[in-house]
Amino acid sequence: MNKFAAPKGVSEYFPPRSELFEIVRDHLIAPAKLAGYTLIELPVFEDTALFERGVGESTDVVSKEMYTFEDRGGRSITLRPEGTAGVMRSVIENNLDKGQLPVKVYYAGPFFRAERPQAGRYRQFYQVGIEAIGYGDPELDAEVIWIADTAFKSLGLSKYELQITSLGDASSRAAHRVELIKYINKLSLDEETVRKAQINPLRLFDDKRSEIIEAMADAPLLINYLNDASSTNFEKVKSALSDLNISFKINPKMVRGLDYYTGTTFEFIHPMLGAQSGIGGGGRYDGLMSQLGGADLSGIGFGIGIDRVLMACEAENSLSKLIKNIDLFVVPIGEDAKAFCAKLIMELRKSGVVVDMAYGDRGLKGGMKAADKSGASFGLVVGDDELSSKLGKIKDMKSGEFISSTLTPSAISSFLAKIARD
Ligand code: HAM
Repeated sequence: MNKFAAPKGVSEYFPPRSELFEIVRDHLIAPAKLAGYTLIELPVFEDTALFERGVGESTDVVSKEMYTFEDRGGRSITLRPEGTAGVMRSVIENNLDKGQLPVKVYYAGPFFRAERPQAGRYRQFYQVGIEAIGYGDPELDAEVIWIADTAFKSLGLSKYELQITSLGDASSRAAHRVELIKYINKLSLDEETVRKAQINPLRLFDDKRSEIIEAMADAPLLINYLNDASSTNFEKVKSALSDLNISFKINPKMVRGLDYYTGTTFEFIHPMLGAQSGIGGGGRYDGLMSQLGGADLSGIGFGIGIDRVLMACEAENSLSKLIKNIDLFVVPIGEDAKAFCAKLIMELRKSGVVVDMAYGDRGLKGGMKAADKSGASFGLVVGDDELSSKLGKIKDMKSGEFISSTLTPSAISSFLAKIARD
């Protein structure tokens, strides 16, 4: 019979790498919690129209990458390609925007885009995201970027670069749009590109074809069209970032893959990841909430790709210090020892010791092999002698040294606690 295989282009995590995935995810969430963000857990599918309206029809995400299907009730459903639109929908639907502002939420989970799979680009991938909704305060822009930056640093990353720009307010964008369209109208473009440019002319800055890159080389840049309010705002964001010792590079040609951005936008790039170098990105989205039927509130957030951050950590070899080994692996020899050890390890676990045991009556050799493979810091063999004396020898698996200990949960856990302290 043919073996089943995972669908094409999905990422999946199983031991031992799944532990690294979890470390990365939890470190990405931790600074958001420190800043008062709380969990929002949303469905992975929504009405297709939410993404069409929220993410924007000129985007690749909406025009060709959505997993869309009809459900049994004839409704058009789409697997979420990103998190912001769903958060807006839920905030509006559940009246969170009428409570304490800003609404600060974080989320983590799978997202779906029918992209051409390659290293770092998957059809099901994972993001940690945050959204802060309610104020256009530039200090909030800095907070959101600080959270991502702090998370990356806590994972030991140092080689990434933060790029930022400002897409300005509506009037800055309108002034720029007129000039950009004038410029684009002089170019000879294919029908599809013209159609895209009509919906969002900024998209042409994102076109990967060399002839378009060349044609757009002298196109007017939005950053030069910021009005006083937008430019003052951007200056405040930059100075807040400098105050926080966060270094950044201005990239006026940055185009995010989603259409809802206004004002500050940013991307974190990791140079060791090849073509899929964006480890996270986000920005402000001023009109999104009202466009989706809610109050006219500003918001800002980011999405960080867990898959890519994990790859970056592996490239920088930064995770080894964060891996928590099993503390103790116990090897019982014989039935009586097994019963004794089963009880002992449950007691040790209650006091917070991470402990596992050699199941399956593998004897001394097989048991010690399992202890080695488990990556445990310490091993303990319990046979008839140890049972009768209630004294055992704990093996330091790294040095091979043996240390005697009484075989009670309290003696063993205080021994391990002492080692951890030293
Ligand atoms: P995004 O830039 O489309 O933004 O995605 C955020 C991150 O998700 C990317 O930087 C990348 O690391 C990861 N990512 C995206 N697509 C893939 C893929 N096919 N395979 C692997 N990783 C991928 C958003 O999704 C916005 N919702 C972020 C945001 C939140 N903006 C404001 N609030």
